[in-house]
Amino acid sequence: MSSKLINFKTLGDDRGSLIALEENYNTPFAIKRVYYIFDTKAGIRRGYHAHLDLKQLAICVKGSCKFLLDDGERRETIELSTPNQGLLIEGLVWREMFDFSEDCVLMVLADEHYDEDDYIRDYKKFIEVVKNEKK
Ligand code: TYD
Repeated sequence: MSSKLINFKTLGDDRGSLIALEENYNTPFAIKRVYYIFDTKAGIRRGYHAHLDLKQLAICVKGSCKFLLDDGERRETIELSTPNQGLLIEGLVWREMFDFSEDCVLMVLADEHYDEDDYIRDYKKFIEVVKNEKK
């Protein structure tokens, strides 16, 4: 499974906390896009896709949510619940996000601009692509 958790250094003092993300210093790729998911309604599950060629770093800057990651052979669930941790997702990985807390703000850094052609939104097709990749 090509996913891993990255810990960020929290800079803090008696005023509170601060985390700085600097391209290629503590992010594993050059950042072309940032988006964030918030105000997610109760019980919503989203994602349901894989990418052909995209690196992403997901950081739950507020609240918590869970990721289901599936590389076609193994599945794992990872909870993000702290702003000092980022989940790196790269390679062929099907992802679903769920259990969003009401206050959840999920920020995602990506190494490419938005490109619908890079998405695999059908699970059966995802499994076919994984199998072809291994041939
Ligand atoms: P969608 O892919 O459905 O989100 P998720 O995978 O988290 O369920 O994206 C929702 C909409 O936003 C969809 O119309 C595509 C659009 N979108 C962009 O325009 N730019 C982006 O960077 C992203 C991630 C989505």
